[in-house]
Amino acid sequence: MFITLEGIEGSGKTTALAGLVAYLESEGHVCTVTREPGGTTFGRRLRSILLDPDSGDIDPAAELLLYCADRVQHVRKVIQPALAAGRIVVCDRYMDATLAYQGGARGLGMALIRDMHQLVLPPLQPDLTLLFDLDPRVGLARAWAAVEDGERHRRESRFETEALAFHESVRTNYLALAREAPDRFAVLDAAAVPEKVLRQIVDVVLPRLPEPLADSFS
Ligand code: TMP
Repeated sequence: MFITLEGIEGSGKTTALAGLVAYLESEGHVCTVTREPGGTTFGRRLRSILLDPDSGDIDPAAELLLYCADRVQHVRKVIQPALAAGRIVVCDRYMDATLAYQGGARGLGMALIRDMHQLVLPPLQPDLTLLFDLDPRVGLARAWAAVEDGERHRRESRFETEALAFHESVRTNYLALAREAPDRFAVLDAAAVPEKVLRQIVDVVLPRLPEPLADSFS
């Protein structure tokens, strides 16, 4: 089973991910926990370029190519092998992020993003996508507080420096993607307290879970 988490900056998905994985493991599931960008050694190098404000004004198409390079490596080296081994893959961001950010907010268009994916990747869709929906004003305030508190490195704040309108666009794009694929997406109220967010997650994940791997109890 392949689960992805998506949302604007500061939507709390990374915190919720830890709770989701703890829950899955307590139910006897074996998880591979990963993220984009940065789920491989190569990807971590790309991540440091993509998220660093010192990378400057990256052309949207150049940005897209780096996210795709990260994803190709990640899908082939991490996600596909883990799924083939029967593990639950929990991934902090995946293709919908490229659609929402590069396709929508950066203006490259959804068709180009879908064509690019088709060209270089196997047709691997998540079984479930958790969308952490939140007012970007709240998300950005949380994200900057995390930078100020040292929970997130300043070198990873390139997207946080984008204007509010950019983040509004990302949110709108995510919600449109969720409407297009209601069976795959679960839209969560990310303004709720962490325990309530986790409750929402468990409610949507529980009915979809496969049987735990037989050897996971050994
Ligand atoms: P995060 O690890 O905090 O979610 O940061 C990743 C950043 O990269 C976030 O601002 C969204 C952005 N991003 C894209 O623009 N396109 C993508 O395809 C992915 C995976 C992330």
